[in-house]
Amino acid sequence: MKTVITIFAIAACIGFFYACSPKTESESASNAAPTKDSLIKRGAYLVTSLGCSDCHSPKKFGPHGPYPDTALDLSGCPSNTPAPVASPEQMKAGNAIFSPDLTAFTGPWGTSFAANITSDATGVGNWKLEQFKNAIRNGKYMGLNEERPLMPPMPWKSYAKMTDMDIEAIFDYLKTTKPVHNVPPSYKPPGK
Ligand code: HEC
Repeated sequence: MKTVITIFAIAACIGFFYACSPKTESESASNAAPTKDSLIKRGAYLVTSLGCSDCHSPKKFGPHGPYPDTALDLSGCPSNTPAPVASPEQMKAGNAIFSPDLTAFTGPWGTSFAANITSDATGVGNWKLEQFKNAIRNGKYMGLNEERPLMPPMPWKSYAKMTDMDIEAIFDYLKTTKPVHNVPPSYKPPGK
């Protein structure tokens, strides 16, 4: 019994001293505001994991289908892409039809073309963080309140609940991407 009490007493003392000991450098660092570098790293991770390239990057074609063309990463639907045309039957059935490289989309909402989100001026190079937040949170074209809503299949509603810090991380990362000059075709309302 004495031994058990002694062990408990020693354990309690160790616990007390550990709790009172000054925090190590890495512990205090985790509470500090993230550095620009760590935000950019997280942004890169999020952009990869959330599949932005699936729609925003032009593709090359291999035996297993389309894959992102890394030289043109995130530069949006190439400017010379024709709108995918659905047959009247497909339109009537409410179907959607995609370009083979998954950057242009025709459906009941009209035809949308994935935007250039590289750091180029034709991408988000001149955007402010507030604009980017407004696009992701409220689905506003160019992130401007007076602009039209963003069309499918941009899954902004799935991204809208991300933390401010994650949205900022994505934006900071996009600002570091290779600038690719490309003006995707403009959105066409249904029947245009
Ligand atoms: C399933 C396809 C798809 C995915 C995945 C996707 N997007 Fe989009 N995105 C689009 C399309 C299409 C548009 C253009 C919509 C329009 O013009 O109305 C767009 C538009 C945008 C815009 C608005 C650009 C502008 O000029 O207003 C931003 C910003 C954007 N996407 C960022 C992202 C980011 C960041 C990710 C990943 C976290 C992402 N998107 C994932 C399809 C997608």
